[in-house]
Amino acid sequence: MYDGDIASVLISEQQINDKITELAKQIDEDYGQLHGGDLVLVGVLKGAVMVMTDLARALPRPAQLEFMAVSSYGSSTSSSGVVRILKDLDRDIADKHVLVVEDIIDSGLTLSWLLKNLTARNPASLEVCTLLRKPDAVQVEIPVRYVGFDIPNEFVVGYGLDFAERYRDLPYIGSLDPKVYTSGT
Ligand code: XMP
Ligand code: MG
Repeated sequence: MYDGDIASVLISEQQINDKITELAKQIDEDYGQLHGGDLVLVGVLKGAVMVMTDLARALPRPAQLEFMAVSSYGSSTSSSGVVRILKDLDRDIADKHVLVVEDIIDSGLTLSWLLKNLTARNPASLEVCTLLRKPDAVQVEIPVRYVGFDIPNEFVVGYGLDFAERYRDLPYIGSLDPKVYTSGT
């Protein structure tokens, strides 16, 4: 699949699996007995879709699945922090325990906008779980409670992450061979 486009496997399918299991266990422990109903997972489309479905299945407690789609104005490789909602939540999250599920945090600008937006809806609690985090994100003041892997500052694809809508369906996370984005297809 995608022969030759992936320079190296950064995180294998097995490593992702183990990490999701570990995160799910931690999340379940932390939330304990919930007042206010089920936990609400908010996945950010499309990138977080794999993390979302795997995490939800690994969580040994009921959780509702909600999705949001946002688009950040600016170039395709860096985000500006100005965000537009393409698809909003279907339900009210007031007094709900909300866990935002992300694939990757890079500059953190998208997420910090999203957290402000969600906070305004008065959830009972609001936390973030991301599978991947890039070095720049560490410098931004965002409370990210659950992080799967801190990765180097390179462009990664697979397991939900795309380049021009391709590679999302890879079961692992790999770094893209630079020839793919310099050839201008
Ligand atoms: P922020 O606002 O944290 O943006 O800079 C995070 C969003 O940027 C995209 N992104 C990537 N997508 N491989 C990708 O496929 C990457 O290495 C990568 N780094 C950032 C992604 O859409 C994420 O939600
Ligand atoms: Mg994304």
